[in-house]
Parts: sequence; C-alpha cells; structure tokens
Amino acid sequence: MNVLVTGASSGFGRAIAQEFGGKGHKVIALARRKEQLESLAQEIPHCIALPCDICDKDSLRQAIESLPQNFKEIDVLVNNAGLALGLTSADKCDFEDWERMIEVNVKALAFITRLILPQMVERKSGHIITIGSIAGSYPYPGGNVYGASKAFVRQFALGLRADLSGTNVRVSDIEPGLAGGSEFSLVRFKGDKSKADALYQGANALTPQDIAQAVYWVATLPKHINVNTLEIMPTSQSFSALNVHKE
Ligand SMILES: NC(=O)c1ccc[n+]([C@@H]2O[C@H](COP(=O)([O-])OP(=O)(O)OC[C@H]3O[C@@H](n4cnc5c(N)ncnc54)[C@H](OP(=O)(O)O)[C@@H]3O)[C@@H](O)[C@H]2O)c1
Repeated sequence: MNVLVTGASSGFGRAIAQEFGGKGHKVIALARRKEQLESLAQEIPHCIALPCDICDKDSLRQAIESLPQNFKEIDVLVNNAGLALGLTSADKCDFEDWERMIEVNVKALAFITRLILPQMVERKSGHIITIGSIAGSYPYPGGNVYGASKAFVRQFALGLRADLSGTNVRVSDIEPGLAGGSEFSLVRFKGDKSKADALYQGANALTPQDIAQAVYWVATLPKHINVNTLEIMPTSQSFSALNVHKE
C-alpha cells in the first residue's frame, strides 16, 4: 500500500510511518520539519519525505503533484497532523491559539482530504484515517477549541462515510486518550518541558506505538470491514463525576 502520513516528523505520525514502513508499505511522510523527515526516511526502505506546511494550500497541492509516479496513488491517508495550544479558560485564552488550532486541525485536514479523495473514489479503493481525540467527546476545562476541533474531525469522518457510500472508500476516526512519547504537551505548553513531563508522571499513558498499531490494524482489516470510530484510553484513564459548582 502507499500510505501518506501527515505530521510524520514526531509522535504518533512518526510511529505510524515506522509501523507501515516496517511492514513493507511505501510511506509518504509529510510535516514541516525536513530534518526529522529525512532521518525517518533513512529508517524506512520505501519512504519519501515531503516537507510541507499543511496549512499552505498551494505548496501542499504542489507537493502532492510532485510525487513520483509510483507514489502517486494513495491507498491510505492518515490525517494525523494536529495540535493543542494552551489549557486556559475560554475567557482568558489567546485567540490566536484558537485560530491556529482551527487552521491545522480543521481546515488543513479538510483540505488534504478534499485533495486526495477524488483519486480514491475514481479507483473505488482507499482509506481515510483521521486522528481525532477523546477530547472530541468528553469536554474538560481548558479544552475548549481543541475539543471542538476534534469533534469536527469525528463528525467529518462520519459525514464522509455517508458521502462515500458505494465507493468502497473506507473512513475511520481513531480517538486516543492520554498519550505520552510525543511533542503534544510540549507544543500545548509552549516549550515548558517540566509542565509537559508532569502530566505523564506515573500515568502509564498510551505510547505512539500503541496508536500506530491500532491504525495499522484498522487499515489492514478485510476490505468489507470499516471501523467508524475507535476510542482508546490508557487503562489508568477513566471517567469521573460531572462537576457541580456550589455557592
Ligand atoms: N498525544 C496525545 O495525548 C494525543 C491524544 C489524542 C489525540 N492526539 C492527536 O494526535 C495527533 C498527533 O499528535 P502527537 O501526540 O503525535 O503530537 P506531536 O508529536 O506534536 O505531533 C504533531 C505532528 O503534527 C505536525 N504538524 C503540526 N502542524 C503542522 C503543519 N502546519 N503542517 C504540517 N505538519 C504539522 C508536526 O510536525 P512539524 O512540527 O514538523 O510540522 C508533528 O509531526 C494530533 O492530531 C493530536 O491532536 C494526541
């Protein structure tokens, strides 16, 4: 299979690229940081590094068009690139953080899907896999726009299922809970490593490899099976009572 992974320079995306690449699939690794992509490409027998800002529509279109002939047919698009910025209450947060999350998690994800989908429909074959989050289903303080962007991802994936009826193109939304081993919290806390590390201390969180294995499983199921949504939490993470504020 030819597998295009967005956000392949670190965390889940890197592990997903390694998982598919290690099993003999051809990987197109997309992210902004060229060096990280090139080191990844050296580990994988058939891998193309595609350095690109997913928010820049023209360069994304050009990058996809520039793919060599044997990488042009995308069998699996893993829409993984995404980010959370800040954990501040909606009345105090930085509006630019909200805009950025919407740009990457919502607009860019929708754009690349729109770009790749026609070739899948034409071939009557393909799989769009989005990386959502449990934050799209379960709100938490400070999750505001991040959670809303992941609710978009979930509903978009389900909506695609409806549109793609009869095309054989599959769509799955993988929704992880707390996961360490990526740059997610470092990005969210804007480089504050001690704050990011504290979140995972003793939590026995999911790892990028756990997510990569789930994505691989979903993508390699027999063609008549479509996993719509797959919610995955570490065993250590669960639910608690709804908050009631009392005067
Ligand atoms: N870690 C968790 O707890 C968790 C839980 C649930 C869901 N998720 C979701 O899982 C996905 C991967 O997160 P992660 O934990 O692996 O975090 P990560 O290590 O920070 O990875 C994010 C990736 O997205 C790429 N990216 C960000 N902005 C981009 C842009 N404008 N253009 C191209 N690539 C861009 C980054 O690459 P460059 O910086 O090189 O561009 C990086 O490779 C995200 O969608 C996240 O929301 C994470």
